[in-house]
Amino acid sequence: SPMSRKIILDCDPGHDDALAIMLAVASPELELLGVTTTYGNVGLDDTTRNALQILELCGSHVSVYRGASLPLVRNRISAEFVHGKSGLEGPALPLPSRGAETTRATDFIIQSVLDHPHEVTLCPIGAMTNVATAMRLEPRIVPLIAEVVLMGGGTELGNWTPAAEFNILCDPHAAHIIFSSSANVTMFGLNATHQALAMSQHIAAIRAGGNRSSLVAAELLEFFKVAYHQRYGYEGPALHDPCVIAYLIQPDLFTLEGMNVTVDINEGVSFGRTVCDIYNVLNLSENARVAMKVDADGYFDLIAKRLAMLP
Ligand code: BDR
Ligand code: CA
Repeated sequence: SPMSRKIILDCDPGHDDALAIMLAVASPELELLGVTTTYGNVGLDDTTRNALQILELCGSHVSVYRGASLPLVRNRISAEFVHGKSGLEGPALPLPSRGAETTRATDFIIQSVLDHPHEVTLCPIGAMTNVATAMRLEPRIVPLIAEVVLMGGGTELGNWTPAAEFNILCDPHAAHIIFSSSANVTMFGLNATHQALAMSQHIAAIRAGGNRSSLVAAELLEFFKVAYHQRYGYEGPALHDPCVIAYLIQPDLFTLEGMNVTVDINEGVSFGRTVCDIYNVLNLSENARVAMKVDADGYFDLIAKRLAMLP
């Protein structure tokens, strides 16, 4: 529709990425221009296949563009422990019947922003390498990006080191490029996404949708739940990535605060930490809006309702 907001979803599916894709496809408020993939939870070949499998499950023909397979400077890390060997363990999904485009993710991002100035929202929910690289390849896009709404970082704890969140830790230098870019950045970090735990009643409500996509989503959450319980002792898995999409559809589910955010790119114990100046003690300019509160029941309600509309 003419009023829908153009987005590019840059992801590393990934259980929560898969639900973010489903939510985007199911939401008429959003025009999903393309899905770009990155290494992250698992390697690029796996995340790309997973993205294609999920789109096919949802009956979507949106194009998939392969992106980075390695970070800019550091070595690659991955999260098989949480997402399984394929990156999407749990449900049995058929192999995709189509492949990714030959155009690279960075070229697709650059061209989309140039073709639709001030209209394209970039949604990185994996390693930040593709968006940062696009900004470096073609700096003219930076002021033309409508918004960058990302999942990564946090105002307090990390989940991959005590200080750093996984997506930022995958490529702290790339995250640093984005936060210091002057683009309009909104951050969904762990302080917010850890309020969005998929408890049994939320998973049951999704399963109750009864359609294929809802059943797969419920199975993904059941697998994710075991991994999260083992690793973090949580009663339900934190459903990080779909927060970005839910915010674009229903912003009143979230409370945001503007502040200065700096990524620690020093290779010490806080490497990859998003240092968030909540009290503005440094008196620097605000470069990000940071999600602080989530209405978890409203969030899962939205997800269950939308996923029920898919095939
Ligand atoms: C982030 O890391 C990944 O494992 C998830 O998909 C999410 O994007 C959470 O730290
Ligand atoms: Ca992710």
